[in-house]
Amino acid sequence: MSDQASRLRSMAQGQHPEAPLFAARVLAITSGKGGVGKTNVVAGLAQALAQQGQRVVVMDADFGLANLDILLGLAPKYTLEHVLRGEKVLEEILLESAYGVRIIPASSGIQELTRLDTVSELRLVQGLQRVAETADWLLIDTAAGIHDSVLKLLMAAQEVVLVTTPEPTSLVDAYAMVKVLHLRDAAKPLWLLVNNGQSLEEAQETVEQLQAATERFLGKQIRVLGMIPADPHVLQAVRQQKGVVDLFPRSPAAQTFQALAGHLLGQVSLQPGGFAAFWRQLASDDAP
Ligand SMILES: Nc1ncnc2c1ncn2[C@@H]1O[C@H](COP(=O)(O)OP(=O)(O)O)[C@@H](O)[C@H]1O
Ligand SMILES: [Mg+2]
Repeated sequence: MSDQASRLRSMAQGQHPEAPLFAARVLAITSGKGGVGKTNVVAGLAQALAQQGQRVVVMDADFGLANLDILLGLAPKYTLEHVLRGEKVLEEILLESAYGVRIIPASSGIQELTRLDTVSELRLVQGLQRVAETADWLLIDTAAGIHDSVLKLLMAAQEVVLVTTPEPTSLVDAYAMVKVLHLRDAAKPLWLLVNNGQSLEEAQETVEQLQAATERFLGKQIRVLGMIPADPHVLQAVRQQKGVVDLFPRSPAAQTFQALAGHLLGQVSLQPGGFAAFWRQLASDDAP
């Protein structure tokens, strides 16, 4: 087995090699339940980071429902499937989108990551390493739920962003995800992102409920990345197959992505009181 593949494996088992596997900051965006807005979050964060001068690569790793390319109006000729089969190298399938964000497209239904043979796995990891050399951020859009292939990606990433909506079903599934991640690697940095909140109070309540459960049952504190309001501009942008940051840069959702990017870049602190002030300001400023 190659060196890289064995390092990926040891990371997947929760061991930390001394040097990071990738040059870029690697964030995996995941959720317990599907349909909570992961792909929109990935696209929004990617565009907002790129707007701030960051070099961003996004990998579509939702092999069940790969649709990042559709969301951004791209028509990939080649996908990860060709890379795994050795017909293309990763650089050849990269697609450039708005703000220079580069996309690694997937196709639905390709072999699960857990079932990759060593050669395919190596092609992927080495390709990602090369691409990460020319990027500041590698964002990974994962499938929802607790599957080995998803967990493997989450373990390989430096940080995990767990997306939930205030819906009780989404919240319960998010807790299950925190639990599994905690058991695999209690030290893995984990961010909570509440999407699609109808009000600040609802989003805050979601945060408090999940935090209370993880502290009580797992003794774990999860950090809050932020809260993205329910915003009809998101749906409009989906329909037009463009990112909301690109199409409606002044919309509440886009402004939130910009603030979250600043937060990730360490430029602004949004918690604990900061986010509430930010939302109130958004509510009073509804120009798209
Ligand atoms: N903040 C939001 N406001 C309004 N609608 C949203 C928001 N986030 C996501 N949506 C909608 O939710 C649906 C699912 O989003 P998607 O990103 O595809 O979820 P996932 O990737 O988790 O399956 C989309 O139709 C999208 O328009
Ligand atoms: Mg998705």
